[in-house]
Amino acid sequence: MPDFFDFVESVDSHIHVEVLKLYPDAELPRFHTVSREQDRLVIDYVSSRGMENLAFGLFHGCSTIFDEPVHITAAAHDEAEVKSVRFTLARAS
Ligand code: HEM
Repeated sequence: MPDFFDFVESVDSHIHVEVLKLYPDAELPRFHTVSREQDRLVIDYVSSRGMENLAFGLFHGCSTIFDEPVHITAAAHDEAEVKSVRFTLARAS
């Protein structure tokens, strides 16, 4: 059964890929998994748009829908002048 972390990782590898097929002009963020453990997913949000607050809210809302609550922290993590935010999703037990 796919869990919440599987879903989060699928946004970059599947969901936004399909969005781009339907809307070639879409400007989508990239998500890069830094590390994944049973109870903790560290993932970088990379976008020139700086919409990390939207990403935060979507992560939060999805975790509720999956009934897998997480504590979310975010920290600026700019690399090579590209705006990036490192999210840590830690399962709330
Ligand atoms: C946890 C789930 C998701 C997260 C965290 C996420 C994150 C984001 C963020 C932050 C943006 C704003 C653009 C940017 O920051 O560069 C965005 C744009 C967008 N996303 Fe997602 N997304 C998620 C799921 C989805 C799903 C399920 C769909 C569609 C089935 C989708 C379709 C889109 C579309 C259409 C845009 C607008 C692109 C544009 O304005 O050109 N996303 N997403």
